[in-house]
Amino acid sequence: MTMEKGASVTDIKPGQKVKGLFCVASKSLRTAKNGSPFLTLTLIDKTGNIEARIWDNAAALNTEFEKGDILLVEAEATEFSGRCQLKINRFEKARHDEVDPVHFLPVSPFDLEKAWRTCKKAMDELRDGTLAPLVKGIFRNRDTRDAFLKAPAAKKMHHAYIGGLLEHTASLVELTRQVVKKYSHLDIDLLLSGCLLHDLGKIRELSWSRPPIDYTDQGRLLGHISLGVQMVDQACMDLGIRPESERVCALKHIILSHHGQREFGSPVLPMTEEALVFHMLDDLDAKLNFLAGLKDSMEAGQGHSWSGYQHLFERYFYLLPRNERAKGPEGPPSEEREEARQQPVQPSLWEMDES
Ligand SMILES: [Fe+2]
Ligand SMILES: [Fe+2]
Repeated sequence: MTMEKGASVTDIKPGQKVKGLFCVASKSLRTAKNGSPFLTLTLIDKTGNIEARIWDNAAALNTEFEKGDILLVEAEATEFSGRCQLKINRFEKARHDEVDPVHFLPVSPFDLEKAWRTCKKAMDELRDGTLAPLVKGIFRNRDTRDAFLKAPAAKKMHHAYIGGLLEHTASLVELTRQVVKKYSHLDIDLLLSGCLLHDLGKIRELSWSRPPIDYTDQGRLLGHISLGVQMVDQACMDLGIRPESERVCALKHIILSHHGQREFGSPVLPMTEEALVFHMLDDLDAKLNFLAGLKDSMEAGQGHSWSGYQHLFERYFYLLPRNERAKGPEGPPSEEREEARQQPVQPSLWEMDES
């Protein structure tokens, strides 16, 4: 059961009574001039941050929660030094599985229901006697689907927000369809299966149930490429499919080689046409998403301008910063983006035949 978010930081005004879920970004126990301890907190949600104080019973309450916890807070909003501040009267700690992370982390600006429909259609269209049952079998697992719906595609670089993995996957499905129109000899079932599964290991590589998006221990130690292959092998065993069959090997080759080079984490280089094409599409989508983020961070209205130096790319970029009113190729205009950010993702869209 997911708890209601309640008040948002940006809506809080001095004088209001406030009830809502907030994440503890920082916490420290201090001593007031009269010698009594008090707690000073910074609370955040995805709309902003606000200072908060706990005056009563502070030393004991200090041990009840940590930085990163999500609290259901009842408080009064006051004004202190010209800024809004919360005086917390009551709080309870929320379990992370009771809280929707979309309230605390940036969310994909795209229509995630549409993205899921794109992925689902690709799955339904698979005709390959091995790949179709394998891919559908993996997504029939509710935990896998729930995680795939919400997972970011990265901690920082590209699609680093809730729904990023789904957005990236749907984008690759669309790109694949365009490429196969031109190069019709390519194996579309293999490519679509690669789209759907290539980054699935990210649901185990990353954690996003509390801010910030971070690596899990196994994610850091094993990486999403090997985790993804493990998941495919496990699914093969569960579904009675031979993991060493030619079709599964071709799919695992796409997963293993999709970063394109050994120094970028792929243990093998793309050695089939489909793996080579897939690597290029993955690279294209990731890089253009990165540049879209960079353009969003640059000042608009000056025409083309230079970004800061991008160490990873060893260059500056000369870019046209996003005009907030223009409908660019990277995504919907700002009002729709903002609207989409406000929409919690409906779990119902995940319903799938579980038989
Ligand atoms: Fe990847
Ligand atoms: Fe990817």
